[in-house]
Amino acid sequence: MDHKSFNPAAFFCIVLYLINSINAGAYYDKNDGPLSYNYYDKSCPNLPMIVRRGVWAALKNDTRMAASLLRLHFHDCFVDGCEGSILLDDTKDIKGEKNALPNRNSARGYDVIDNIKADVEKSCPSIVSCVDILALAAREAIVMSGGPFWPVSLGRLDGLTANEKSANEQLPSPFEPLENITAKFVAKGLDMKDMVVLSGGHTIGFAQCFTFKRRLFNFKGTGKPDPSLNPSLLSNLQSTCPNVDNSNSKLAPLDIQTINRFDNSYYKNVMNNTGLLESDQALIKDPKTASMVKDYSNDPNLFAKDFATSMMKLGKVGVITGQSGQIRKKCSSVN
Ligand code: HEM
Ligand SMILES: *[C@@H]1O[C@H](CO)[C@@H](O)[C@H](O)[C@H]1NC(C)=O
Ligand SMILES: *[C@@H]1O[C@H](CO)[C@@H](O)[C@H](O)[C@H]1NC(C)=O
Ligand SMILES: *[C@@H]1O[C@H](CO)[C@@H](O)[C@H](O)[C@H]1NC(C)=O
Repeated sequence: MDHKSFNPAAFFCIVLYLINSINAGAYYDKNDGPLSYNYYDKSCPNLPMIVRRGVWAALKNDTRMAASLLRLHFHDCFVDGCEGSILLDDTKDIKGEKNALPNRNSARGYDVIDNIKADVEKSCPSIVSCVDILALAAREAIVMSGGPFWPVSLGRLDGLTANEKSANEQLPSPFEPLENITAKFVAKGLDMKDMVVLSGGHTIGFAQCFTFKRRLFNFKGTGKPDPSLNPSLLSNLQSTCPNVDNSNSKLAPLDIQTINRFDNSYYKNVMNNTGLLESDQALIKDPKTASMVKDYSNDPNLFAKDFATSMMKLGKVGVITGQSGQIRKKCSSVN
């Protein structure tokens, strides 16, 4: 499976994108707390174009980057709020988030954001925060993959520190029960519906074998595979991820149906016992989440609409404005 090849469907999405952008004009007069949709209109009018160009180039080289940028935005916002902390390198004083367990050898796209930031600095030095660039880049990536547009309100500041421990504690693990994952969303001001909808992000991208391998060979100490895994997917995954340590970082697509396309097939998979992660398949086991999974599997437009709404909520978690943040010059270090 070649996840690096360019997906020509993306060309159609650009057309969709233009149509969507026009419709989105309707949102632009909404009052949005300290953030606003026209925050950089005067100070950096080229920003949307620069971000779009940067994401386009990154996806053209590596289609998977769309998934990686979405996840990077999620992992930023979920740890002490959307403040670009995930982008900071470790220093001698601070153990940052890049090396936290859910991110190390896993989170990708830092260089894409760093490069877009460098381009933005050429046009409008010290005007645009890294966290806003990440929020915009994630949106562009999803639109270019065939997913919904959502308006990104702007004006977030970059934080001054990062926290490895918070990342280890606050990010969800695929091995923990659904109640625990739900609690982590609730702790961020999100709810169970947001959790089910945003899990639909697993309609694109890849996971390493170690994140689901116990389902293949020794599920919860039974010595047998997870009975809730479709047998034909099971045998495919067993050949991708043989039961030896050196297969741990091999990759399998999160959505076997349409690997690079942002659609509702994630929910069809879960309905069909072909969800990849335990935490994906768990959504069908709880009656409260199962009915949402069913609805999204039947109605791609409902999923697109609700995903956009939940992304707008996610992008506002723990935002910094005022004195407590800065506009970084480089995303990987504080000024
Ligand atoms: C609900 C709890 C969640 C859990 C337990 C979870 C877990 C994971 C895991 C284990 C991986 C594979 C990482 C690797 O193997 O390196 C992954 C990948 C991914 N996750 Fe999640 N995730 C969750 C929620 C989300 C949310 C809310 C989003 C975005 C809205 C998201 C977007 C992604 C994407 C796009 C990828 C693929 C990244 C790539 O290919 O680079 N996930 N997730
Ligand atoms: C293109 O993508 C590959 C990974 O698929 C990466 O190693 C390489 O650095 C990327 N090249 C550019 C110019 O971004
Ligand atoms: C789930 O959360 C409970 C309560 O916070 C905790 O005691 C338990 O260890 C967690 N389970 C897992 C598998 O993380
Ligand atoms: C459900 O799983 C079967 C494999 O058992 C597969 O052939 C079929 O395409 C799947 N359907 C959907 C909608 O994912």
